[in-house]
Amino acid sequence: MKSFDVVVIGGGPGGYIAAIRAAQLGLNTACIDEWKGADGKPALGGTCTNVGCIPSKALLQSSENFEQAGHHFAEHGVKVKGLELDLAQMMKRKDKVVKSNNDGIVYLFKKNKITFFHGRGSLKSSSEVEVGGETLQAKHIVIATGSNPRALPGADFDEKLVLSNTGALAMADVPKRLGVIGAGIIGLEMGSVWRRLGAQVTILEALPTFLGVADEAIAKEAAKVFAKQGLKIETGVKIGKVDRKKTVAVQYTASDSSSKTLECDRLIVSIGRVPNTEGLNAAGVGLKLDPRGFIEVDEDCRTNLPNVWAIGDVVRGPMLAHKAEEEGVVVAERIAGQKPHLDFNTIPSVIYTSPEIAWVGKTEQQLKAEGVEYRAGVFPFSANARARALGDTTGLVKFIADAKTDEILGVQIMGPMAGELIAEAVVAMEFRGSAEDIGMICHAHPSLSEALKDAALGVDKRSLNI
Ligand code: FAD
Ligand code: NAI
Repeated sequence: MKSFDVVVIGGGPGGYIAAIRAAQLGLNTACIDEWKGADGKPALGGTCTNVGCIPSKALLQSSENFEQAGHHFAEHGVKVKGLELDLAQMMKRKDKVVKSNNDGIVYLFKKNKITFFHGRGSLKSSSEVEVGGETLQAKHIVIATGSNPRALPGADFDEKLVLSNTGALAMADVPKRLGVIGAGIIGLEMGSVWRRLGAQVTILEALPTFLGVADEAIAKEAAKVFAKQGLKIETGVKIGKVDRKKTVAVQYTASDSSSKTLECDRLIVSIGRVPNTEGLNAAGVGLKLDPRGFIEVDEDCRTNLPNVWAIGDVVRGPMLAHKAEEEGVVVAERIAGQKPHLDFNTIPSVIYTSPEIAWVGKTEQQLKAEGVEYRAGVFPFSANARARALGDTTGLVKFIADAKTDEILGVQIMGPMAGELIAEAVVAMEFRGSAEDIGMICHAHPSLSEALKDAALGVDKRSLNI
């Protein structure tokens, strides 16, 4: 029987990073993953690499290039004649980006001497995993089996008319009318991709407020911007029957209680994801799940079974690749006897729409609910020189700091490169920096990051450029 210090089940961002960190720490490590690429061969990287973060960002970039060339280049004095969409090439490029990431993980596994098994891993006990008829002995097991898209009751995914993220990332033509259920992150990102490529997109959202997870002011501004771009978003709806023939008809009750039908050529259902424990034999070995089906873990990602850990989308917390990765590092280091810590409050969120929306820490509405006294500074990109030069002045930066100590409690950004800019706020918060700290740091001119400095100065009402 093959024996390992650590056997990781799942080769997504949680699993592959856990395996790499464990191997770096001198632990004899194996990783099992069942994902198959189009060629039937292993495709490491999980949901994120194959049908999530990476292909969606590739298509977001390509479709944004198409939109820029079609609608915005002329403003820069760049005339484009005969602009044409080559969707097959766009998809080919996306697949190439995915493949280079798959291959990158294979390289990292080789470099770190991680033994890879292609197949489904199943728990035989808290120290044995079965894969492809073989039993692996493990001192520690890390479960990183990820999540699956949640289907709408009565409208299973067929990936032809009713699409999950998988189908949404691989359409062979641009639908004339695209329906989307759920105005969450996938709905907004994929809705943006297909709108830019020419689809009329309608998004139906159950909650009465749009983007309730984000800062209220930013969510309001974002709703206006998306509407102006042509994304039709209806909130407060109740979805009824979904009929599919050659097209799809979604019956729903609108927020004013009227009965409506959305007719569309294709429907993306993006109403959240469910933890994946299929085939793990959790019940057989007594691995405890919570009522929603997530593997129950403590704050260090320990399950109820000795030396069995679980990380990423299959456990509580935000379903984000970087959260899964950090948990992978923390667990590997705990197994090696170290005492790392992961601060959930400093995990950033990014929505890669245009403009991008990013945030970290608390929003004003959360602080109000908690009764925390704070001061806020806001700076619009319309007053930032680099944003003007880019021709991309939509959005703002908001800094929120403790009213007494000035410690940064949250930062929200909507605007160009928000997903990159948020990193400065994360660093500042990890070091428990104050708004004044950011205000005192020299930022390059002209740069988008100056908007962060000005917003931070705004906490003390001393922004320089507004
Ligand atoms: P996964 O990535 O789901 O990996 C789990 C792996 O385990 C899979 O390969 C699966 O095949 C394998 N597996 C499962 N069970 C077994 C078993 N029994 N035996 C062997 N293998 C098994 N997050 C971000 O942070 N940024 C983004 O931009 C972003 N974009 C996204 C876009 C889309 C369209 C989607 C759907 C998600 C996106 N996410 C994004 C979320 C991100 O993909 C997940 O949070 C992340 O993949 C979770 O990582 P994980 O390792 O927990 O699980
Ligand atoms: P989500 O949780 O972001 O959004 C789901 C939306 O659907 C919510 O607004 C919810 O209110 C709505 N909804 C739920 N049931 C509904 C119903 N019956 N009818 C109408 N609306 C309904 O989930 P989403 O977009 O599916 O994404 C899944 C996960 O993937 C998210 O948790 C997210 O963290 C992750 N992801 C992250 C990205 C990023 O970091 N940029 C990009 C894409 C996905």
